[in-house]
Amino acid sequence: MNRPCKAQGEAVRIEDMLLSNGVALPSIGLGTWQITKPELLAELVACAYDAGYRLLDTAAAYGNEIALAKALRSTGIPRDKLLLSDKVWNTSRGYQAVQEACRKSLKKLKTDFLDLYLIHWPAGSKLHPDWAELNAETWRGMEALYQEGLVRAIGVCNFKQHHLQELKKTAAILPLVNQFEFHPGMNQEELLRYCQQNQIQPQASSPLGNGQILAQEELCKIAAERKKTPAQICLRWARQKGVAVLPKTANPRRLYENADVFDFALSAAEMQRIDQLPYCGGLGLDADEVTTFG
Ligand SMILES: NC(=O)c1ccc[n+]([C@@H]2O[C@H](COP(=O)([O-])OP(=O)(O)OC[C@H]3O[C@@H](n4cnc5c(N)ncnc54)[C@H](OP(=O)(O)O)[C@@H]3O)[C@@H](O)[C@H]2O)c1
Repeated sequence: MNRPCKAQGEAVRIEDMLLSNGVALPSIGLGTWQITKPELLAELVACAYDAGYRLLDTAAAYGNEIALAKALRSTGIPRDKLLLSDKVWNTSRGYQAVQEACRKSLKKLKTDFLDLYLIHWPAGSKLHPDWAELNAETWRGMEALYQEGLVRAIGVCNFKQHHLQELKKTAAILPLVNQFEFHPGMNQEELLRYCQQNQIQPQASSPLGNGQILAQEELCKIAAERKKTPAQICLRWARQKGVAVLPKTANPRRLYENADVFDFALSAAEMQRIDQLPYCGGLGLDADEVTTFG
């Protein structure tokens, strides 16, 4: 196997979270948004694998599916040793369009199947008066892909509670995963509770608040007390709330740091201190408000 990774570290056994259809989803995956250069992706994929990562998260909109396929080929990691998660973009809504989009992504990724396929954004009410119907139709296409065996699990991203409640009225299969922004300062308590009550696995996008929350004073204080880094505290906090995470780093050394969160537990008092942090950065996009894409 060709291994371009130069960062040294000890591999972590990343715990899985069991989806309601029995698929084991690694609780930490590598986010690849904004990483498009094939050489960097190849180095990161090799390092991530060495560090213990088994889940890679991409999206049609990230423009890196072809580069990711090249990276996977160059590292020589067998397809069945990694889980690939991909997302359908907003321009491919509806029963037929989502199925065509998935097949295009499969071709770009040079794989026969995806481990997880997600709707990237719900159709929101500001741009789509028929948002509920549109989401239902897209979901019907997702179910067809699942029934056909092209995807091992299906889910959504950025769905709020009312989007999920509406979908539930027509869905034959409920989303297995909801990927949404979640990090200290953006606790999303109600949405989290709803997902967990409905066996929808929450998965955090931007679990480090896009890097913007890592200098927050109280978070740094807890990290110093624990002899951990602020990033590790964020990821451990999410873990203890039952949320899978997708930290992104373009820095191979940080891959090890971000995976190394299974050898300690935050106390109830520490969890509460983190729960109480104010909003201090992140993407902060709201599916009902976004009008620049939809
Ligand atoms: N479904 C959606 O709509 C959606 C939206 C946003 C994100 N996502 C997914 O979630 C993933 C992560 O989200 P994100 O990229 O917004 O942000 P993030 O993972 O919350 O933060 C990434 C930022 O933190 C820095 N960082 C990472 N590890 C660090 C560490 N240990 N110490 C200090 N800084 C560190 C990174 O810099 P370096 O790269 O320099 O390390 C980068 O600037 C994405 O890649 C994507 O897969 C999904």
